[in-house]
Amino acid sequence: VVVYATAKGITVIPEIDLPGHMLGALASYPSLGCTGGPYEVWGKWGVSNDVLCAGKDDSYVFMKNVLDEVCDLFPAGYIHIGGDECPKTRWENCPCCQAKIKELGLKDENGFSAEHYLQSHVMMQMAEFLAERGKKVICWEEALQGELAPGATVMAWRRNKYGHQAARLGHDAVMTTRTHLYLDRYQSEDKDKEPLAHSSYLPVSMVWSYDPFVSEDKDAEPLTQQQKSHIIGVQSNVWREYIPDNDHLEYMVYPRMAAVAEVQWLRPENKDWDRFRNGLDRMRKIYDFMGYSYATHVWDEAQKPE
Ligand code: ACM
Ligand code: ZN
Repeated sequence: VVVYATAKGITVIPEIDLPGHMLGALASYPSLGCTGGPYEVWGKWGVSNDVLCAGKDDSYVFMKNVLDEVCDLFPAGYIHIGGDECPKTRWENCPCCQAKIKELGLKDENGFSAEHYLQSHVMMQMAEFLAERGKKVICWEEALQGELAPGATVMAWRRNKYGHQAARLGHDAVMTTRTHLYLDRYQSEDKDKEPLAHSSYLPVSMVWSYDPFVSEDKDAEPLTQQQKSHIIGVQSNVWREYIPDNDHLEYMVYPRMAAVAEVQWLRPENKDWDRFRNGLDRMRKIYDFMGYSYATHVWDEAQKPE
C-alpha cells in the first residue's frame, strides 16, 4: 500500500485508535482491559464501554510495541493515535486506573474529570514516544478534553468548532466534520432503495457546500488569518463496517469525492454550483471509462446546495 501510494504522490497516514475502539486488541489480550474480559471483537456500529486499561504498565508497553511496528511500516511524518469515543465507565471503577490517577495527582478540573486527564496522559505518553521516533501525532477532537499533547494536530469530526478551538490554541487542525464529510452516510432520502448506510442524508450538493471556517457557535469570533492558517485541510471518512467490497466502496465515494476535492482545493471566489455540476458530466465519462461504480443521484434528481 505504501509503495503504491508513494508512486502516486500520496502519503498514507495510519491510525491506531487508542485507548478506546480497542476491542479487537482486548479480545486477543484480555488482561489489558480493566475487567480482564472475556471480550469479543465489536461487530457493529457504536461505542463499547470496554477500553484499554490506562492503569496497567502492560497497556503502555503494548501501545508502544504496536506504535513501534507502525513506525517501521509507515514512513509518513504523522501517526494518528485516535482518542475518540472512549467512555470512562470502566476507568471510574477500575482499581488500577484509580491508582494511576492518584499516582499522577489527577483531579476533576476545568470542567473535565480526572479520567479525562488520564486519557490526556495516555495520549501525551504516546505523543512523546512517537516524537522520539521523529513522528508527529494526529488526535481526534476529544483530545481537547483535558490537556492536548504539545504539537498534536487535531481532527474535528463532530463539529467545526472543535477544529477552530484547536486553531485558537495554536494547533493545526484537519476538518472531517461528519455532517458534511462522512461518506458512509446515505445518498438518498429514500433509504429503502439504498444499501445499508450510516444515519443521515449526505447528497453531493451538501458535501460541496461544506465550509470549514463556519462555526456552529453563532457567538464565536471569526478566526483570524493566523488562526485560519492552522486549518491545514479537510478529509472525508469512509468507515467500512457495512461496506464489504470495492464496488460498494466506489459507490459511496463517487461522485461525492469530487465535491470534497472542490472544498479542499478550489479558491473560494471560484465556487459556483453550476460550473461544478457541469464538470460532473465530464467526470462521469471518466468514471465510465475507468469502470468505476458510482452513485447517480446527482444526475437523477435536482440537487441544490445549502
Ligand atoms: C469518529 O467518527 N469516531 C472519529
Ligand atoms: Zn483500568
